[in-house]
Amino acid sequence: MPPSALLLEGIHDAADVRLQSDHIDVRRAPRLSDATPDVLKETMAMGIRSRTTLDAQTLRQLPALSAVGCFCIGTNQVDLDCTADAGVPVFNSPFSNTRSVAELVMGEIICLHRKLFDRSSGMHQGRWKKSASGAHEIRGRTLGILGYGHIGAQVSILAEAMGMRVLYHDHQPKLPLGNASQVDSLETLLRVSDVLTIHVPDTPLTQNMIDADSIGKMKSGAFLLNNARGSIVDLGALAVALRTGQLAGAAIDVFPEEPSENDSSFGHELCGIDNVILTPHIGGSTREAQENIARDVAEKMAKFLTTGSTIGAVNLPEVALRERADQLRILHIHHNVPGVLSRLHATIAQVGLNINAEALDSNAQRSCVLLDVDPTNDPAVFDALGAMPETIRLHTFPPKPAESSSAAPV
Ligand code: NAI
Repeated sequence: MPPSALLLEGIHDAADVRLQSDHIDVRRAPRLSDATPDVLKETMAMGIRSRTTLDAQTLRQLPALSAVGCFCIGTNQVDLDCTADAGVPVFNSPFSNTRSVAELVMGEIICLHRKLFDRSSGMHQGRWKKSASGAHEIRGRTLGILGYGHIGAQVSILAEAMGMRVLYHDHQPKLPLGNASQVDSLETLLRVSDVLTIHVPDTPLTQNMIDADSIGKMKSGAFLLNNARGSIVDLGALAVALRTGQLAGAAIDVFPEEPSENDSSFGHELCGIDNVILTPHIGGSTREAQENIARDVAEKMAKFLTTGSTIGAVNLPEVALRERADQLRILHIHHNVPGVLSRLHATIAQVGLNINAEALDSNAQRSCVLLDVDPTNDPAVFDALGAMPETIRLHTFPPKPAESSSAAPV
């Protein structure tokens, strides 16, 4: 029987195409509660977005579950410990919306330099106000990027293509793209930037990183953009700097507290301040990003279901081996305690099988060992490995028939 995947929450259909190319049977339901008990019983791979919670109770309804794909950035909706204890890798797609965020940043930089939203809403309210006062080209202006990772580096390329001078600060040494240069400190970046755009993650070190003190060090008349996380900027201090005219504008996509439901009411002290663009956390929300996420997560799920690769798993160690159709592949997930590997090898040797390839990775609690062994139909090896007290889960992948790549973990 081919492995079956259940996709919920309207995941982009690029996921179906990728999974089906590995002969995975794709089923769909709007929500978990819409799937029949039979479908739940057979589901080996579950694809969800942010509205489905996968906790211990839900996992009990899914006895065949082997993999979870979060078709989004975060994985907070899944109990990662519980899935790891069940030997179920959880995959996500942390970087598929990089370009969407970078493009929004470029749009915001131009809009702020031309006070575009104020001018446009003035027109909608019946006001004609033609003026060049405070309006600038972005060419020749200095863009400071805080966090030169996936998004920061993309912004750097786009901004330079539009004639900006790009400087960045990152706590790691990062190879500059194009003519960008890394500055020695956040303080330098604040002091010299006409525009500061934030692209660091939410960590204890970045929380409130841009507070009143940092804002006070920014160039007079500069712009501040935050499309990263709501915890990084003190929005009260930002509102003061905007009202006093120290900063000329801001674009904020993320907030310390965000409504969980669409069409919720929204109120904030930044509302009503001139030249402030407020958006409801849409930096990465494009159809293209959804499609990229669907491809990326489906690829990781399909690789796991057909080859045992846990590359990209957020809750288990990552292992992979090159594909070999003539081998019996075994993924042994176990508690990370001394001696398991030698007992694993001895158990396989005792049933007379040769190990032809092996990959091991561990974290503090758990290890994954991926093995290619001589093909066999003798259940003795599975029984013996399954009976080891340290075993969490055994996934096996039979040799593939010559003209088909279909294989299912059992
Ligand atoms: P990334 O992990 O690729 O890059 C982050 C960079 O920040 C790294 O180069 C890292 O070295 C640097 N960094 C971390 N801590 C730092 C510190 N204390 N000081 C200086 N540099 C530091 O992350 P990516 O993909 O570029 O995302 C950046 C942010 O954007 C994340 O917070 C992410 O959650 C957010 N994001 C927001 C979206 C939206 O819808 N608005 C969509 C996608 C991502």
